[in-house]
Amino acid sequence: MQTRKSPAEMGVEQLRAHVADELARTRRRSAVLTDSVDDEDLIKQHSPLMSPLVWDLAHVGSQEELWLVRDVGGAPAIRPDIDDLYDAFKHCRKDRPELPLLGPAEARKYVGTVRDKVFDLLDRVRLEGRQLVDRAFAFGMIVQHEQQHDETMLATHQLRTGAPVLTADPPPVAADAGSLPPEVLVPGGPFVMGTSTEPWALDNERPAHEVEVDAFFIDTTPVSNGEFLRFIDDGGYDRAELWSPEGWAYRCRAELRAPRFWERDGDGDRWLRRRFGHVEPVPAREPVVHVSFHEAQAYATWAGKRLPTEQEWEKAARFDPRSGRSLRYPWGDQDPSPEHANLGQRHLQPADLGAYPAGAAPCGARQLIGDVWEWTATDFLPYPGFSAFPYREYSEVFFGPDYKVLRGGSFGTDAAACRGTFRNWDYPIRRQIFAGFRCARTPRAGETR
Ligand SMILES: [Fe+2]
Repeated sequence: MQTRKSPAEMGVEQLRAHVADELARTRRRSAVLTDSVDDEDLIKQHSPLMSPLVWDLAHVGSQEELWLVRDVGGAPAIRPDIDDLYDAFKHCRKDRPELPLLGPAEARKYVGTVRDKVFDLLDRVRLEGRQLVDRAFAFGMIVQHEQQHDETMLATHQLRTGAPVLTADPPPVAADAGSLPPEVLVPGGPFVMGTSTEPWALDNERPAHEVEVDAFFIDTTPVSNGEFLRFIDDGGYDRAELWSPEGWAYRCRAELRAPRFWERDGDGDRWLRRRFGHVEPVPAREPVVHVSFHEAQAYATWAGKRLPTEQEWEKAARFDPRSGRSLRYPWGDQDPSPEHANLGQRHLQPADLGAYPAGAAPCGARQLIGDVWEWTATDFLPYPGFSAFPYREYSEVFFGPDYKVLRGGSFGTDAAACRGTFRNWDYPIRRQIFAGFRCARTPRAGETR
């Protein structure tokens, strides 16, 4: 079990060492994702949904330069000429290959130069006295930003065609999966949502606030491929009454028949999937992944259930009825270890249902952290008392009905970018991300007694 202190409790020198470790560890992951393919693959656009990998790499360096070298460090710009190219708000993903981007060698040199300056800065900067540097927040933000782009680059690898280039061990199996109840009850009452104390939490996770949540049932595990197949076999993709009007319009427009990356084998009687270049039978006990919000919602309706609200999801994941506290993670306050959750690209797929018993929440639900992002029913909105930090473009400009909240992280999410309070958001039609879901339902009369 990991007993490392969180940045909230570290002394200053310990905090510097922790930041240095996190930066180095994160850069090793970026290197795996960009060194595993040749230059042609780095420059190429593998899907109009994604940037070329070489854009992500230099963009990571550009943000690091802007926030750490220039803002925190007060140093002059290294490459002011490329700021515009790597501004995600100025060029949409599909247009990025046409830009005069840095080539692979130049991009690697640039991110290395930026990182050297950041390590120099880290040795001497005061980690207090200004909100941006307090508890090394800006460094934590940059670690999370690079890790988020690493997950995006992993999704680009999944979209890439050709021979496999990434390798990893299979995830652990679930010993007691057969004995788990299909759903667990979370009693009604107040709980504290969000955080005001987690030093590296982002603006949209703040502040902590009490919310009242009625009793609900939530699935013990995410919905599996085997369960999702029953929805397909029951005509789920052909029954408009199971879908919202927008969902059905999308299903028809995109001609959806199954999760993304699934295809029927030659005889048509078996489903196969492509996973990082491997074509293999769809594993029945693994959480379904690469489904949109609309597919998740249609499945839930078919199952006689609904998607959990974001408040319900967080209460299931964090509320400890014994202490009345909200935990940092389902298992407690310790940072994630390999026994707790499938995070950090340690495996290249979700673990079977019921894995990670040590990561169970007080309510008994499993795999809330890691494996697959989970769609919730809730629009991405600010918490009461929200204030944008360090800039409006981080979260505020995305608030509104266009985006749905996803929770919990996936096998491709690093622990540094995943907490019980962490909020992700995306369009309800998005399928290339590592997203699945679990269902919830309101108890029937007498069921909670
Ligand atoms: Fe970014």
